[in-house]
Amino acid sequence: MKDDNSAFVGSPEPLPGSPEPLPGSADPLLDIAALRADTPGCETVIHFNNAGCGLTARPVLQAMLDHLHLEAALGGYEAAAARAAETADFHASLAELLNTRPANIAFAASATHAYSKALSSIDFRPGDTVLTTRNDFVSNQIAFLSLRKRHGVKIVHAPDHADGSGVDVDAMAALMRTHRPRLVAATHVPTNSGLVQPVAEIGRHCRELDLLYLVDACQSVGQLPVDVQEIGCDLLTATCRKFLRGPRGSGFLYVSDRVLTAGHEPLHIDMHGARWVAPGHYRPVDTAARFEEWEFPYATVLGCAAAVRYALRVGPQAVARRTPALAARLRGHLAALPGVRTLDRGPAPAALVTFAVEGRQADPFKAALDACGINSALSYREFAQYDFADKEVEWCLRLSPHYYNTEDEVDAVAAAVAELAGSTR
Ligand SMILES: Cc1ncc(COP(=O)(O)O)c(C=O)c1O
Repeated sequence: MKDDNSAFVGSPEPLPGSPEPLPGSADPLLDIAALRADTPGCETVIHFNNAGCGLTARPVLQAMLDHLHLEAALGGYEAAAARAAETADFHASLAELLNTRPANIAFAASATHAYSKALSSIDFRPGDTVLTTRNDFVSNQIAFLSLRKRHGVKIVHAPDHADGSGVDVDAMAALMRTHRPRLVAATHVPTNSGLVQPVAEIGRHCRELDLLYLVDACQSVGQLPVDVQEIGCDLLTATCRKFLRGPRGSGFLYVSDRVLTAGHEPLHIDMHGARWVAPGHYRPVDTAARFEEWEFPYATVLGCAAAVRYALRVGPQAVARRTPALAARLRGHLAALPGVRTLDRGPAPAALVTFAVEGRQADPFKAALDACGINSALSYREFAQYDFADKEVEWCLRLSPHYYNTEDEVDAVAAAVAELAGSTR
């Protein structure tokens, strides 16, 4: 961590008497110049691919480099022992961010790894139902199909509201009552648009009906407040590399006390998740470590802990004000361009700005933005079969700013898209 506090100005809450920032304007509570100075990548690119992977801040990079040096100097096991307290902060910092206890957090190699561990802890039987949404993440949808192939589970998709603003919670609750699903699964913010799904509303119904509830918060953690108590989920997965700005190859699983007490354990539990207490018996550990593996990429875990501490110091509320506001400014610019169709729906979209460009092809369009020094990402129909069919698009470009981006960058990116939409084929 930086010793000085230069990048962190004031409390995350508005100062008494200070006006609320206007959408898209600088948040007076964040020193953006200092935050950018703390982010080496800001010098080289306009990074609007935070939904892919955020730019790491210096303290995150330093934590990882320091540990690699320590491993080289002391040996891997000895370095891990020397940094045990900092490693434990992975669990403690995420618990603070998500409003839970460290014992309810498990490290995973990715969000998908965490998700598949969670699914493997459910004893699916033929005829069980998985109730999910049409906007759940592609790999989750494939995992459900794979469960259908192997275990004969039924997959039910709750309908969306007619205006495309995400899942209709009343209809989903009615399906909960009819099907009594073995699992309810919802993605908070999908990968393919800025839609924010009402995961806490869904959670209230799951709690009322005592249904197992798994939330994919991969795109929301680090950009929007995520409180597992408020959501009422049993399991929640995310990565550290996107809006948390941690390293690649990382993720985590939140496991509620309900799930731990009920005895859920991953199918392939190992010597970290369980004790081999007799030749014919093992006993799972009491905490979410049950879902971890014995081997850790320590430098990565320490980088994640540094990233989560950094996010806490910047302030989740300040981030949640600024980041979607920057995206709203960008969306506003793009919506006004001829030939450009913005695709995000819902009353308060997140910082994933998606749009289609009439008459253009995906790869050359993105390559042209790359050539302008602007990082972006493409989504294709196969990432979002339901959503893209509804929107009648085969691909879209995704631009995802974060709090350390500037209004000038937003305007420059919009100008570049305007130029390319008018001139590049
Ligand atoms: C909504 C959502 N869920 C899950 C994932 C998968 O994350 P990971 O690549 O860490 O497995 C992504 C990645 O883009 C995502 O956007």
